[in-house]
Amino acid sequence: MSDSVDRPDEESAPASGPDIRRLADWDADRLHELASEFETPLYVLDPQRIRENCRRLQRAFPAAEIQYAAKAHTGRTTLETVHDEGLDVECASAGEVRRALAAGVPGADVTYTAVNPPAGDLDDFVDAWAENPGLTVTAGAADTLDRLADREFDGRLRLRINPGVGAGHHEKVVTGGHPKFGVGLDRAPDLAESAAARFEFAGIHAHAGSGISGEGLDDHRELVRRMGELARTLDNRGLSVETVDVGGGFGVPYREDAPPLDLDAVAGATREALGETDATLAIEPGRYVVADAGLLLTRVNTVKETPESVVAGVDAGMTTLLRPALYDAYHAVRNLQAPPASRETVGVTVAGPVCETADLLCENRPLPRPEREDLLAVGNAGAYGYEMTSTYNSRPRPAEVTVDGELLRRRERLADVTRAERPPSEANGFRARDPDTDR
Ligand code: LLP
Repeated sequence: MSDSVDRPDEESAPASGPDIRRLADWDADRLHELASEFETPLYVLDPQRIRENCRRLQRAFPAAEIQYAAKAHTGRTTLETVHDEGLDVECASAGEVRRALAAGVPGADVTYTAVNPPAGDLDDFVDAWAENPGLTVTAGAADTLDRLADREFDGRLRLRINPGVGAGHHEKVVTGGHPKFGVGLDRAPDLAESAAARFEFAGIHAHAGSGISGEGLDDHRELVRRMGELARTLDNRGLSVETVDVGGGFGVPYREDAPPLDLDAVAGATREALGETDATLAIEPGRYVVADAGLLLTRVNTVKETPESVVAGVDAGMTTLLRPALYDAYHAVRNLQAPPASRETVGVTVAGPVCETADLLCENRPLPRPEREDLLAVGNAGAYGYEMTSTYNSRPRPAEVTVDGELLRRRERLADVTRAERPPSEANGFRARDPDTDR
């Protein structure tokens, strides 16, 4: 956490906003203007809402080190905004470390969580560390410690623990307890001791999973309890534990009627579960910071009546927002065209342009009867939205703008998709295109 950031006192506290911003809260006229100016599909981001989310986290966890999990949205504006609000940044690759540093986040506020790190990532991280000795790496295998030592790294290191318990919105995002992640609790004390002899030991880390709410919170509490216990074990062995990092995972409500997470209650339960320790608590929220700060705009291009539902073909799909296809994730959809009363409500399936059945944004959802050219908004797209886009089907990635109309990232063109491909070769029977004469 940057020393320069003052904690606001209650009276001068900057606005931290409501617990959740619903899709219905976005101004439809503004979204229409943005879609007209920048076309669709289009990601819209509200940096002010990112600030509010940071502030609510800081209010609930006043003594904790809060690291934004950059993977949720790694855009430069997002990184600058969270850093300006006083958050540190947790990175999932050397590339994310480079982007955080490039956004002006000091090395001392950046952690790299190295999961099976490819050699190139370790090389690049160690190079970045030579210039930014405050960088921290979190490693979850004895082998990774050896590979770091091989590179003459002796800087700040956190040991990733497999806490034997996990949680999350879908089995594919539960990490705690999976053998892929971290070293077992039984092996942790010996490995921590060996790490402390070779590196600057910066504490212990675990991550339960992503999108935790409801009964998952009990599992998260159990994870924190086990980590607190481990910290005391290490302390008894004379090992000073600077930080107990309990990862991210705070859920947001994706359904319109789901209640927001009671962050203060979660924070209270976390502190209680951690128990007595001199170590600083660290958390790594990603989704909570950016999910409701972003949405996706998409336009209806084809309407088809079927016996099952009305299918609204749109220009966004699994290449634009992967979560529904990958996790069966629910995202709220709002038809911005229709004054709600003017069209009957029917079961609508919103389908993208990819020839895969998974390419649906929602299925048979009660929505106003769609018409061609309608503008639809898809909610909570700020987290793991743009970051998980792909160019499958040779679809260039969409543009991203702020709600104020600042272009954050231009729409890609086909040339961006093919940029790294080898040029056409006449020997293979291809004829080089002449951009002036060929279509
Ligand atoms: N820390 C670590 C070590 C993580 O692996 C993650 C997420 C986080 C923090 C942040 O978790 P969050 O607060 O955002 O839940 N693509 C999936 C989510 C995968 C998250 C992976 N790790 C989705 O769209 O739901």
